[in-house]
Amino acid sequence: MSEGLAAIPSRALPLSARAPGKCIVFGEHAVVHGAPELVFAIDLPTQVFVTSGRTTRLNADDDGVRKNSYFRSALELAWNAQPPVEVRAISRIPKAAGLGSSAAFVAALTAVFSSATGGVDRPTLAQRSFDIERGAQGVGSPGDTSTVVAGGFVTVNGGGGEPLWSIRSPEHVWEVRRVTDPGWVWVVAYSGIRRSTAEAVKAVGARLDRPDGPALLDEFRRVANDGIEAVRRGDRGTVAELLRKNQELLREVGVSHPRLEALIEAAKPAAEAAKLTGAGAGGSVVALPTPGKEMELVRRLARAGGLPFVVRPSPDGASLVEG
Ligand code: PMV
Repeated sequence: MSEGLAAIPSRALPLSARAPGKCIVFGEHAVVHGAPELVFAIDLPTQVFVTSGRTTRLNADDDGVRKNSYFRSALELAWNAQPPVEVRAISRIPKAAGLGSSAAFVAALTAVFSSATGGVDRPTLAQRSFDIERGAQGVGSPGDTSTVVAGGFVTVNGGGGEPLWSIRSPEHVWEVRRVTDPGWVWVVAYSGIRRSTAEAVKAVGARLDRPDGPALLDEFRRVANDGIEAVRRGDRGTVAELLRKNQELLREVGVSHPRLEALIEAAKPAAEAAKLTGAGAGGSVVALPTPGKEMELVRRLARAGGLPFVVRPSPDGASLVEG
């Protein structure tokens, strides 16, 4: 296994860990129903600091356990009956924006809790992080948590590549694999509209239950499989075409939003393609910039009211911050 996939060692509190955010390139929503997904970790990290405390608090808030379901779920599943902890979290990712803030918080916190209770190998960290996110959200795939645990480019439910691990839920076994980073720069832009992943996932589930649902899901599957192959070949033209096709499908299942469509339109003169990324219904878009037009793309997205970030895939997944 490469160094980035090393186990999390056993250490005593106080401890700190960080995890990257993520950006879904192909297959969000369809992945929940067994279709393939391609995701990469982005260099916008979340870092947590954990010390022993007199009561358990999050960011100096005595009510943090009640208010934050991800924190609550991590305490239940990875810190069962251990002494109280003070947790501080700092993130460069906007919350509820489709860029993986909850997955990064969960993976970093789970790395700390697992380290303080004897250490953990990476496949178990990925499973534990998924169980915790699932415990908080009630629905969803392991795409986000596995990506921020693994770093780099990751596929779920197929698409070839080196097998990393399998993640189990009551209804599925999800195969998670590594795909080589083609080395491109990407631009993401947050629309400023926060939304609930769980509600968007449920709405798409209801849409896919209609008579044309299976045919739509087949289209999602085809686009993601072809997209993963095109990324592996480094074929930008085909990737761009499939990003546009994936956006049409996401529009069809009802998770686009006028603000996202405005950002996608604004990106056109400086991007080979753009689509929503994550659960949609607000959240963010991802664009593949026309080479040399990265800064023009950033300006266009900002003028259209987005909060743009130039992102590079982060090769590193969740890790302890030591020293
Ligand atoms: O919650 P978000 O916006 O980071 O994205 C979740 C991606 C979905 O496919 C919609 C849900 C999932 O768990 O895979």
